[in-house]
Amino acid sequence: MAKVKTSFFCQNCGAQSPKWVGKCNSCGEWNTFVEEIVERESSGVASFLTGTGNQPKLLHEVSSENTEHIDTCNHELNRVLGGGLVPGSMVLIGGEPGIGKSTLVLQLALDLKNKKILYVSGEESIQQIKIRAQRLQKENQNCYFLSETSLEHILAQSKQVAPDLLVIDSIQTVSTESIESSPGSVGQIRECTNGILKYAKENNVPVILIGHITKEGSLAGPKVLEHIVDTVLQFEGENQYMYRILRAIKNRFGSTSELGIFEMGNSGLREVSNPSELLINRAHEGLSGTAIAAAIEGIRPLLIEIQALVSTAAYGTPQRSSTGFDLRRLNMLLAVLEKRAGFKLATKDVFLNIAGGIRVDDPAIDLTVITAILSSNFDLPIRKNVCFAGEVGLSGEIRAVNRLEQRIAEAEKLGFDSIFIPKAGKGINLQKFKIEILQFDRVELFFRHVF
Ligand code: TYD
Ligand code: MG
Repeated sequence: MAKVKTSFFCQNCGAQSPKWVGKCNSCGEWNTFVEEIVERESSGVASFLTGTGNQPKLLHEVSSENTEHIDTCNHELNRVLGGGLVPGSMVLIGGEPGIGKSTLVLQLALDLKNKKILYVSGEESIQQIKIRAQRLQKENQNCYFLSETSLEHILAQSKQVAPDLLVIDSIQTVSTESIESSPGSVGQIRECTNGILKYAKENNVPVILIGHITKEGSLAGPKVLEHIVDTVLQFEGENQYMYRILRAIKNRFGSTSELGIFEMGNSGLREVSNPSELLINRAHEGLSGTAIAAAIEGIRPLLIEIQALVSTAAYGTPQRSSTGFDLRRLNMLLAVLEKRAGFKLATKDVFLNIAGGIRVDDPAIDLTVITAILSSNFDLPIRKNVCFAGEVGLSGEIRAVNRLEQRIAEAEKLGFDSIFIPKAGKGINLQKFKIEILQFDRVELFFRHVF
């Protein structure tokens, strides 16, 4: 074991203390002290004297070999990664417990047939991994498994196996002997991630780390992890639903607007390549309270079903609840309906749900949300084969949305008859579509035509 000297530092103001303290004496913040390494035992001769460090190079001297993305054999994952895994890069997959992180990564490890893989789990025994692999009905002769939590052992084994991909499930279970904090603490996570990063860069091996998410929704081991790794992917979804969404939050090698959609089944995760067809239930059309939005997630058009239930409040204060849609935005839209269009909803309970358990941030679904709410309020079904795209502003105006043509094209492709959109700006060619396009710029006018 290498001799190191550690000390505790306040993550807020940088104050130092020889032992852990709950409250920082200099800035007064609580729970900010983290153990960090201050001095490592060196080999005696500084590396700049021996000239063993890296040398500066010109771009043309840098070989472009090994910079190709490694195909993960999984379209959705490739899409979110920006084409595949980059050699020497470090990818962090975060998500709540039970969402399917281990399943996703094990599936990937078992699918990559022509690569040597080392799958390290600090959470499960080899037997448990085998049971999971049997459930996935997959096998891979080139995939080695190791149940281990010590960083030093993991790195020693990786050097011996020399894999083409290293997987660590999860970073919070790994600990290094050089600092005394318990596994999962910020100091441990930082040291271990740095150790693994060094291995990845030196050997040009891609590494996938799995990370847990705290109750507040951030990656445990705060921002430190996000800064160190190249790519941060978030795996999310509602536990009771089968859809799982993989989003890129940070990506040094690709766009962060991409989205991968999976469906959890009895034998693992299945890629969903035509999400629109799955997320809308045509049987619900014609029922009051249901409307279909032409949304865009990432750069992909996605038709989604929005359901609303409006009922008279049984108790004094009306309830407002939403799944998959921002509650503050729902309250804002209700206020717009009340103030700008004169609908009395103040004494009503309003529940809103985006089908499939997915979360949508696209503001263009506003128009669908208010349509679903009014449809439920008046018990008036919306015509079949109609969908909507438009953002609603505070003064009741229907605002332009991005990628309008893509939304219309998706609706047309799925056989919709009409789409309600904002007044299209210049440069948007609506003539090429066969679908009926209805344009409105105010919610009051819009309502007269919908019902
Ligand atoms: P898991 O991948 O262990 O989640 P995480 O690593 O993110 O904590 O497990 C995900 C859940 O999915 C678990 O409740 C069991 C379920 N599951 C399936 O429904 N089908 C499957 O084929 C597998 C392997 C798991
Ligand atoms: Mg797991």
